[in-house]
Amino acid sequence: MTAEPLSRRTVLTTGAAVAGAAVGAVALTACGSSAGTPSGGQAGAPAASPGQPLTALADIQVGQAKAAKTADGKDVIVARTAETTVAAFSAICTHQGCTVAPQGAELHCPCHGSVFDALTGAVKKGPASSPLPAVAVKVDNGQVVTS
Ligand code: FES
Repeated sequence: MTAEPLSRRTVLTTGAAVAGAAVGAVALTACGSSAGTPSGGQAGAPAASPGQPLTALADIQVGQAKAAKTADGKDVIVARTAETTVAAFSAICTHQGCTVAPQGAELHCPCHGSVFDALTGAVKKGPASSPLPAVAVKVDNGQVVTS
């Protein structure tokens, strides 16, 4: 680059570009549930392909839940809603994207204290305001698999 003196117009144009970038950053920050998440940006329900084994049904107590991973590495929560029925949810907190952990019949987020119902994914305590997205699962030969 040559040592050409900056004209007023160049400075104004550059300033506007910087201001635009700043506005863009603010807009991204406002979408906190889907951008820049601490756990790598997983947002919404994992789009798992059908038939992926998640855990053995016998490894989950009735009325409780267990953390699992899909074959492609997405964190999910598998809940045993009754003796032979299950439900599953994304383990990614809908507040700012940390990974929730099962504690009895609840899922606790370590980042800001949100609590979700382990069997439904519903918010029991904020700051999260949206439920955990459901992941379709079924029981197949004693294994909980994506469906
Ligand atoms: S990221 Fe879970 S409570 Fe904030």
